[in-house]
Amino acid sequence: MAFPHTRMRRLRKNETLRKLVRQTSLSASDFVYPLFIRTGRELKEPIESMPGCFHFSPDTAAAEAAEIFSLGIPAVILFGLPERKDATGSQAWAKEGVVQQAVRQIKKTCSDLVVITDVCLCEYTDHGHCGVIRDGRVDNDATCELLAKTAISHAQAGVDVVAPSDMMDGRVGVIRNALEKNGFKDTAIMAYSAKYASAFYGPFRDAAESAPAFGDRKDYQMDPANSAEAMREIALDVEEGADIVMVKPALCYLDVIYQAKKRFNVPIAAYNVSGEYMMVKSAAKAGLMNSEQAMLEVLLSIKRAGADIIITYFAKTAAELLKLTHRKVSK
Ligand code: PBG
Repeated sequence: MAFPHTRMRRLRKNETLRKLVRQTSLSASDFVYPLFIRTGRELKEPIESMPGCFHFSPDTAAAEAAEIFSLGIPAVILFGLPERKDATGSQAWAKEGVVQQAVRQIKKTCSDLVVITDVCLCEYTDHGHCGVIRDGRVDNDATCELLAKTAISHAQAGVDVVAPSDMMDGRVGVIRNALEKNGFKDTAIMAYSAKYASAFYGPFRDAAESAPAFGDRKDYQMDPANSAEAMREIALDVEEGADIVMVKPALCYLDVIYQAKKRFNVPIAAYNVSGEYMMVKSAAKAGLMNSEQAMLEVLLSIKRAGADIIITYFAKTAAELLKLTHRKVSK
């Protein structure tokens, strides 16, 4: 029964009707908020490449975490900027490392907030690659051992979830075994399973001071042209013991998120990365689009594609906005 019996506009007549038939909705509980931690005290320094984001010290990160939790956001993911870097990235597993300190302080202030740590060496190595270099290439198996050491040190500090983002083969299994052996059977793993070699990490690499000093990451991160390979990566990580799998970046890879959701019965996370954040921020600053609408549309598209969890620098702004809109509509 086509037109005029069928009129698609009938259900678009007003906002209440549209709300009734709306398929996808966003909530603060979908979000994970990334925090950048550096050594020091009482720091909250704006990050130049990512307006709206800050470098915190462990003490101010704890205060920030409490605010994040009060907005209904269930989790943070921590990235560390160490005091010094070396060839193996040894500050990554230091007991008094900056992330380890931040985990302890956040857990003390706000024990219910889920604390996730990014497990990678690129912020800690002096060459900026995600592992140790042997013969001009990142050495896979040697790197896995160091990642496991790092994950254990985060678990000892009290983290809930470790998130390896290095893209070495077999690292999820090596980390899972190490956690079990050391008595951390309840520390979960969120694997950056399908992580692409993307230009959209640009602003983050400034913020985390983690750009590679030579070459690029195409030797370990995925080729943007491939999606079947992403399904293999995810399957392997699930087999090795990942509790949550991730697709990263989100926007250029919505098809990958969609396929992953259809195929795997594990929570799917998507990382709305720094370059995606800055596309919206920059366009809005140039007066080209409405920042809040663009933000919500981006986040909604990631959720609609199938993501259960969205890691986003917009988390706080979006949570505040959703609270307001909810109040307005329910009045
Ligand atoms: C570390 C890591 C990166 C991001 C998250 N973890 C950078 C990279 O792989 O170069 C990027 C996050 C973002 O762009 O927001 N390996």
